[in-house]
Amino acid sequence: MSALMQVSPLDPLAYRSDFPILSREVRPGVPLIYFDNAASTQHPREVIQSMVRCYEEHYANVHRGIHQLAQESDELFDQAREKVRAFINAPQREQCIFTYGATSGINIVARSWGDANLKPGDEILLTEMEHHANLVPWQQLAERSGAVLRHIPLTEDGLLQLDALDTLLTERTKLVAFVAISNVLGTINPVGEIIRRGHQAGALVLLDGAQSVPHQKTDVQALDVDFLVFSGHKMLGPSGVGVLYGKRELLEAMPPFLGGGGMIRRVRLDSFEPGDLPAKFEAGTPPIVSAIGLGAAIDYLNRIGMDAIAHHERLLVTRAHAILEKIEGLRILGPTPEYKAGIVSFSLDQIHAHDVAEVLDRSGIAIRAGHHCAMPLHNRYNVGATARASFYLYNTLAEVEQLAPGLDAAKRVFHRKRNFG
Ligand code: ALA
Repeated sequence: MSALMQVSPLDPLAYRSDFPILSREVRPGVPLIYFDNAASTQHPREVIQSMVRCYEEHYANVHRGIHQLAQESDELFDQAREKVRAFINAPQREQCIFTYGATSGINIVARSWGDANLKPGDEILLTEMEHHANLVPWQQLAERSGAVLRHIPLTEDGLLQLDALDTLLTERTKLVAFVAISNVLGTINPVGEIIRRGHQAGALVLLDGAQSVPHQKTDVQALDVDFLVFSGHKMLGPSGVGVLYGKRELLEAMPPFLGGGGMIRRVRLDSFEPGDLPAKFEAGTPPIVSAIGLGAAIDYLNRIGMDAIAHHERLLVTRAHAILEKIEGLRILGPTPEYKAGIVSFSLDQIHAHDVAEVLDRSGIAIRAGHHCAMPLHNRYNVGATARASFYLYNTLAEVEQLAPGLDAAKRVFHRKRNFG
């Protein structure tokens, strides 16, 4: 029995009533089945209330005022940062920079560390399964610096070809930046091994944790990762807040990227001195209330337990595979459930993914359809778009069962349309 299987099971029914939106009907008589969690998750009442309370009772700008409300906001904001620190086991809370999401965290590293450190011919190693957020900032950096991008290729069934590291990692590799869990394939990558190999080659490693931090335990010290980014809105928190974690010596050596109020120690008319961490990377008014909401989301997740969440999602995705594999003409992208998190992307013979999503929506099932901000990945598998169901702690096996009649309906509707014009 694996360690994961020894975790006590999570009962989603015990949590669903905490999420007001989950009890709504999409249309009269059609309950919502929310399977678009990889795009954004829903919010328990206590997360919403933490933000309402802040606005109604404590709100002021942070780290600027000495009046009572400013002090209360400061305290709530600092507590939220401490919750983030503990959640990923960062050594110090100053190493957790509040950003606007995973994308902005990657852009900070590319602009700040990248511009200061890369020269022509240096290499950045990515993978073929990256989200555009972990491709485009490096493409822009390569244009600015003359650095070269390389990519770890994928197997047919959606795993990284790790043996390619033997040739891809060289003394020219300055950074390895890769996704912990693919937002399309659901693949859980061997993060520890890739970080170790990257370090052996003398490279730094940035981990895109947008799809992993919300779904499984993350320990930046055990991983020894140099940078980690993730977003609040994929882990029950609000949109507009994310986190960039970095090793202290790296963050201290990096020049600030955005300039403005809050990130300085001293400003003269023609020059400035940057402030200390984390302020150095938080120019302008930060996402105060969103960060407080993220702190409340972390409290909620901690009470359930990340191992229980991961285990529950494995059950859901295993069931989803079993259902989808029985449907003729359906192709699942990515590995078997044992290698993946709660994400399943698929294409259905001659029916466009958008049409699949539209028919499922008639049954109240919300999925995402398209390229999911991963066009190169879809090109790799010769498919323009996929339909994607992605799960979270509040989804039930009974909801997953609804995929079968929903997809049958899609096939009926579109085969009829084809046959009768
Ligand atoms: N990154 C988000 C997704 O995969 C938006 O849907």
